[in-house]
Amino acid sequence: MTVIIETKKLTKKYGSKAALDSLDLTVNKGEVLGYLGPNGAGKTTTIRLLLGLTHPSDGSATIFGEDATRHAADIHKRIAYVPGETNLWPSLSGAETLKFLANLHGSIDEAYQKELIKKFDFDPNKKVRTYSKGNRQKIALIAAFATRADLLIFDEPTSGLDPVMAKIFRDEVLAAKKNGQTVFLSSHILEEVEELCDRIAVLRAGKLVELGTLDELRHFSAVTVEATFTGKPPSVSGIKGVSNIEIHDHFLRCNITGSIDELLTVISKAKPVSFLSRKPSLEELFLAIYKTPSGEK
Ligand SMILES: Nc1ncnc2c1ncn2[C@@H]1O[C@H](COP(=O)(O)OP(=O)(O)O)[C@@H](O)[C@H]1O
Ligand SMILES: [Mg+2]
Repeated sequence: MTVIIETKKLTKKYGSKAALDSLDLTVNKGEVLGYLGPNGAGKTTTIRLLLGLTHPSDGSATIFGEDATRHAADIHKRIAYVPGETNLWPSLSGAETLKFLANLHGSIDEAYQKELIKKFDFDPNKKVRTYSKGNRQKIALIAAFATRADLLIFDEPTSGLDPVMAKIFRDEVLAAKKNGQTVFLSSHILEEVEELCDRIAVLRAGKLVELGTLDELRHFSAVTVEATFTGKPPSVSGIKGVSNIEIHDHFLRCNITGSIDELLTVISKAKPVSFLSRKPSLEELFLAIYKTPSGEK
């Protein structure tokens, strides 16, 4: 497997506060990595470090095997980046801006750019100053995808887009993945993360708190189990991983984390008349992961 991004103990301090604290992360070729975390978690700081826009206080980041700070100019030829808020030159037209951004990058796939303009339903003939936030975002996305760069870095790219355009964005990310490109996607949109990301990294207060596939992350979270019995429900309190037990007459509800085997055996021995188990919704999962441990700010 080819490693595209690798950070080792990557740290950025502002004063005494670590905006990013000892991040160890590897992103492989062809992977879409979802980078999540509440506001202020350090996502943009990470991206700025990867782009060499700011220097680490400690640790290192390499992209394509090269140091992200020292070899930024070389690395940038193979990267396209879209920030959450795009600042462009107000007096250029959309078309001029796209041309300028393409020259800045070196080369683009012109046919694909035309296709993207159509797909994103973008009118390139107006001045940038007249474009809405969504339209400015479209320019940045079209410019980035058209590079067909080896690594695409997006920092909450769909915040200004309507749902139809957000869907086009997702389609193009999947096309890029199919094309062997690697995508680093900072996002708040669960739908986007669920559809696109091979793995998810969750950051909280500068620290990486979770890393894995969505299914692996789900594993950490409790599954809810409900069952009814003809008689009294069996006792499940001694079973490993069981919590939040509720019993009313013939009805049992509890949560289980980890293996469900033992709980199932106990329930099935008691001859349930109904049984239901439910995975946490994405929202429940992320609320559980995002939840700040007590005592922390
Ligand atoms: N230039 C800066 N100077 C001081 N503090 C900063 C600077 N940039 C970011 N921070 C702080 O670092 C933390 C992480 O910010 P950021 O990376 O923008 O988070 P996110 O993108 O996840 O919302 C925040 O507490 C933010 O206030
Ligand atoms: Mg940010």
